Amino acid sequence: MERKIKIAPSVLSADFSKMGEEVKRVEAAGADMIHLDIMDGVFVPNITFGIKMVSDVNKITDLPLDCHLMIVDPAKYVEKFANAGADYITVHYEACKDDLDKVLKAIRKVGVKAGLVINPDTEVEKIARSIELCDMVLVMSVFPGFGGQKFITEVLEKCVKIREMIDEKKLNCLLEIDGGINSETSKLAIDAGCDVLVAGSAVFNSPDAKTAIDSLR
Ligand code: DX5
Ligand code: ZN
Repeated sequence: MERKIKIAPSVLSADFSKMGEEVKRVEAAGADMIHLDIMDGVFVPNITFGIKMVSDVNKITDLPLDCHLMIVDPAKYVEKFANAGADYITVHYEACKDDLDKVLKAIRKVGVKAGLVINPDTEVEKIARSIELCDMVLVMSVFPGFGGQKFITEVLEKCVKIREMIDEKKLNCLLEIDGGINSETSKLAIDAGCDVLVAGSAVFNSPDAKTAIDSLR
């Protein structure tokens, strides 16, 4: 089956002093969504930006905003990110645990697409029951926190399993992968069933974003 592959550049690798221009640059180059990595310095050992950045980026682009929350207690901020213009709010299984279903329902309730993400060392079985509550499942192919890390090939098996679950249940749910995506690993991810490829350094560190994006598809 032919799947349309979407590219979601992660602005983590953009020049934050020129965020507007950077977003416009990848939009013109054919990006399908903008991936915003929100990190709190607690859930992950890095700090990026928060609600105001999402709201400001929302003013300058019509592309869907894919907000990847790497924060503790994400439920507390769902409504705030929704009001800021998030189109997808993706929460970590590792940050929600027992509250997972409740958080996913809360995201949909405020009219935003619900995303669920697992770290490279979290098994698919942990989230299997919750997939029906998701509009997107994200498989991390690096440990979250930083751009420019090496792709962990072992996670591809999880992508294959999740793809099967989505297809079997005929769910309207995208499968996304994030971390270490470049023109070589993108092929592996597509073969494993992914629909959305997040790419930070491969897009923003390239002098020509269009060539970079085209080479990922
Ligand atoms: C890592 C972030 C990624 C990161 C990917 O914690 O979730 O979105 O920006 O960067 P690259 O594509 O450089 O691995
Ligand atoms: Zn991310």
